[in-house]
Amino acid sequence: MVFNVLFVLAAYLLGSLSSAIILCRLMGLPDPRTEGSGNPGATNVLRLGGRKVAALTLLGDTLKGLLPVVAAQALGAAPTVVGLVGLAAFLGHLYPIFFRFQGGKGVATAFGVLMGAAWPVALAVLATWLAMAFLFRISSLSALTAAALAPLYAAFLAPPLLPMILVMCVLLIWRHRSNIRKLVAGEEKRIGR
Ligand code: G3P
Repeated sequence: MVFNVLFVLAAYLLGSLSSAIILCRLMGLPDPRTEGSGNPGATNVLRLGGRKVAALTLLGDTLKGLLPVVAAQALGAAPTVVGLVGLAAFLGHLYPIFFRFQGGKGVATAFGVLMGAAWPVALAVLATWLAMAFLFRISSLSALTAAALAPLYAAFLAPPLLPMILVMCVLLIWRHRSNIRKLVAGEEKRIGR
């Protein structure tokens, strides 16, 4: 029990390491919390620093969701604990203790969690994101569509994880409320602009 609690806590702390903020600081780029969309995530880092640093941000944010889940599974944790570990890493990204709880929207970290906990769902979500990005070239719209469909994919492909995935998707959509407003107003920026 104590071990599980510590594991969940460690996942939260790992999730709190914001790749976007750390990489922007290291590369001498503006703080993604105050520039561009104000979101410390790969899409905004793409705007501020270009493809390479955005790819590194994406990788870092994905890994901090994936690694704790894989580690929990490797140590034989029960599915509920694996779900809580994934959720903790995701919450760390959204509300990072190291950065005044000003985190991102959770897209890459949620994808990492899904890769570790339910890869068929992760692949379905990725295909959705890519199809929407190909069609509309709007990162937030791609993420919102993928998040809206993820519980449906989970219901068929990974039913035991449905509650955890549902919570992640609701939070992810909630964190995109400024994007939703911009989408409705036709003001959301396209990828690469
Ligand atoms: O991953 C976050 C993305 O969906 C939206 O990012 O910077 O356009 O608010 P941004």
